[in-house]
Amino acid sequence: MSQHIVLLAGDGIGPEIVAEAEKVLTQVNEQFSLGLSWNHELLGGAAIDAHGVPLPDVTLDAARKADAILLGAVGGPKWDAIERSIRPERGLLKIRAELNLFANLRPALLYPQLAAASSLKPEIVSGLDLLIVRELTGGIYFGQPRGIRILENGERQGFNTDIYSESEIRRIAHVAFQLAQKRNKRVLSVDKANVLEVTELWKQVVTEVSAEYPDVALSHMYVDNAAMQLVRAPKQFDVIVTGNLFGDILSDQAAMLTGSIGMLPSASLDQQKKGMYEPCHGSAPDIAGQGIANPLATILSVAMMLRYSLNAPLAAEAIEAAVGRVLDQGLRTADIFSEGTTRVGTKAMGDAVVAALAG
Ligand code: NAD
Ligand code: IPM
Ligand code: MN
Repeated sequence: MSQHIVLLAGDGIGPEIVAEAEKVLTQVNEQFSLGLSWNHELLGGAAIDAHGVPLPDVTLDAARKADAILLGAVGGPKWDAIERSIRPERGLLKIRAELNLFANLRPALLYPQLAAASSLKPEIVSGLDLLIVRELTGGIYFGQPRGIRILENGERQGFNTDIYSESEIRRIAHVAFQLAQKRNKRVLSVDKANVLEVTELWKQVVTEVSAEYPDVALSHMYVDNAAMQLVRAPKQFDVIVTGNLFGDILSDQAAMLTGSIGMLPSASLDQQKKGMYEPCHGSAPDIAGQGIANPLATILSVAMMLRYSLNAPLAAEAIEAAVGRVLDQGLRTADIFSEGTTRVGTKAMGDAVVAALAG
């Protein structure tokens, strides 16, 4: 049976970058006779404008039935003042939770052509290839109680709860160890166990799970040190496994090592390898509508989708190679521009990837 994808363009630069990813999808679908079909649904601010909620039932139903989902990004100043429970970001969190997409893979891989675009010295980042495995449906993002309340003295108090059960830690640890087995066989678990009980348990459970993977070396680091080490000597890392909030922060930081946040794709997987694929960056309201956003993180997310959910590894490799060839040609969006290269816009970058695939 043919496989179906739901595209969620979202807000801000979302529609611009998803349009380029869709061109790439059309090209590989024909070139590799994949027989894929897809349709668009609304998520985030776009869904609020049309239906009053960030995740309409029709979108959730379509996402449940689909073999994979490709998302641009959601959110923006237009929706920042509305009631928190129906903001665009809540739609994204809800779809992740409803589909049980607990394993968020964020690979930070430096294309050698972009060594000059990284904010770190080329010798620090050349050859960089690390994978952040972020727990995505638990932790402080979802813990109860949460809210903003008024104290007796009239003062407001904001509160959230960082909470992980053993089973949640166990399943993400297995994902990290199994991925490490196919890589350099090293897992670093990032915690703040010196202060937070929830991450003390995290550290214990990851250590217990590691006994099932004697071929993988496990080490631990506090998150503050990990943040420092990521910019000091990022090549020491192979797989980094961590909770929802630390993973969110460390992956944006790791993105910059690869030249730009516009280069980092991601996969959010359930237990069966069904997944939602999206760039790690957001809707970039500051550059939306200008045609200058980098579509490569979204295009590389299509490659991850073909590999992890759609059983088309050759098409995935072809996309990654095509991105390499476009970078070889010297084409750069503004975020990865450096002297001696050619600045192009979003559409020209997408067209160049399609041409490189076809050629
Ligand atoms: P952001 O990632 O949208 O932007 C941060 C900076 O990176 C901006 O200067 C932006 O122009 C730049 N940038 C991001 N993507 C780029 C690209 N593809 N090409 C070139 N430059 C790029 O983060 P933010 O500004 O903190 O958040 C903006 C909105 O996006 C907020 O509403 C936030 O909640 C939302 N957000 C959504 C997602 C998502 O949908 N997965 C992720 C992060 C942030
Ligand atoms: C991301 C984003 C989201 C997150 C927001 C928009 C809810 O920053 O995908 O990294 O924090 O997970
Ligand atoms: Mn983020």
